Amino acid sequence: MSNWAKREWFPMTTTLKISNLNKHFSGNKHVLRGIDLEVRSGEMVALIGASGSGKSTLLRHIAGLVAADTQTESLIEVGGRCVQHNGRIAKDIRSIRSKIGFVFQQFNLVDRLSVQTNVLVGLLHAIPLWRGLVHYFHPSEKKQALESLKRVGIHECHAQRASTLSGGQQQRAAIARTLVQGANLVLADEPIASLDPESSRNVIEILKNINKEDGCTILVSLHQVEFAKRYFNRIIGLQEGQIVFDGAPSELTVELLKKLYGSQANELFEPEQLSTPSSSNNSALSPSFNFHIA
Ligand SMILES: Nc1ncnc2c1ncn2[C@@H]1O[C@H](COP(=O)(O)OP(=O)(O)OP(=O)(O)O)[C@@H](O)[C@H]1O
Ligand SMILES: [Mg+2]
Repeated sequence: MSNWAKREWFPMTTTLKISNLNKHFSGNKHVLRGIDLEVRSGEMVALIGASGSGKSTLLRHIAGLVAADTQTESLIEVGGRCVQHNGRIAKDIRSIRSKIGFVFQQFNLVDRLSVQTNVLVGLLHAIPLWRGLVHYFHPSEKKQALESLKRVGIHECHAQRASTLSGGQQQRAAIARTLVQGANLVLADEPIASLDPESSRNVIEILKNINKEDGCTILVSLHQVEFAKRYFNRIIGLQEGQIVFDGAPSELTVELLKKLYGSQANELFEPEQLSTPSSSNNSALSPSFNFHIA
């Protein structure tokens, strides 16, 4: 069965729905504050915001890895299925999570296993436990892994140990794993934060390609505003756990970015951009806007 056929599981037009998500951590730190969000099937959305604004925490709630506050009513649905309700994670979360791919900044591959076996880990939800334990995969499954590796351009490395790959290649293997998994929603938490600019472009272009060709819904947290602007149609800005911007890249103004990043804005802009008059009609970012791409 092709990945696309498997994706019939998400027939809805809304892939992600979040209502009134609140999260306090110990010490009464209010990290997510009444988040309401809908992401339609096939969207590719960038999540931006200063360090500590709650991006990772939000993604982890969507994957059902962290439970919201129980004191307030809240709901997170993925593909029309409840991930968590009023701070209680759904009982069938493993089945829901099998359709949610998660890509991490630090790749989360098993170093000592081959690249191909790491990709096949994406199938563990679908095969008997004993097969997973002894890494027994059918030839058709191995072929599927190779095809996924081909799509991300590293099939020639399939037999190498994961630890021997470069950072960019490891991230591509992690994306291939979500392809084999047949994920309908891919959550990527700072997938390019540890990569050089060339590898970063490559990884974002691969995600864009999966989004276009497979209709996979993609939500990516990023620090690199330039990438968000260039590759995404919709950008969500988080500030202290609240959504303060949700719109097209063209609507993202210098003022908004200064507000979003506060004292961290200096790391994003050329000094002259910081002195842009706030009343200017040209404050929406132009394509030539100079960001530092880390
Ligand atoms: N398990 C936890 N216990 C206590 N506080 C936490 C926990 N996880 C996150 N936080 C706090 O929640 C806030 C948001 O953290 P989060 O990691 O979501 O931010 P972020 O936007 O992803 O930041 P960065 O860009 O640095 O990755 C921070 O103040 C962080 O210290
Ligand atoms: Mg984070």
